[in-house]
Amino acid sequence: MDYSILAAKAIEAKTKALPVYSNFHVGAALLTADDKVITGCNIESSSYSLTICAERTAVFKAVSEGERNFKAIAVASDHPDFITPCGACRQVLSDLCGDIDVVMVNQGNELKILKVSELLPYPFGDDKLRY
Ligand code: THU
Repeated sequence: MDYSILAAKAIEAKTKALPVYSNFHVGAALLTADDKVITGCNIESSSYSLTICAERTAVFKAVSEGERNFKAIAVASDHPDFITPCGACRQVLSDLCGDIDVVMVNQGNELKILKVSELLPYPFGDDKLRY
């Protein structure tokens, strides 16, 4: 799938965001190995730390539906610049998606693509749990 189409799905997913405290809307679209797209948005809680980011919503939805192989995730917000996944999302992407492409979309609909390994070098991983 063309990454501009995946980016459009992230922009669409952003319309479902519930950022009731930050008012910072984020959408994500996760591309599976067999070209399915699973979207996510950020959802905030009155107990602030229970908030979940768009990226983790998409990953956990996908895994809960039996998806285990992924190619890319697109991330969109209303910020004029590209936004990168937070540290917690980088860890979850590394753990559950591997070294996929992270496709960031800015307000000009430009794309910036980085690998998970570029965003999270020297990751902790399940290999360290089995020694
Ligand atoms: N957020 C995301 O959903 N993804 C990111 O990549 C960065 C931050 C959300 C979490 C919170 O709801 C709001 O943006 C402000 O941090």
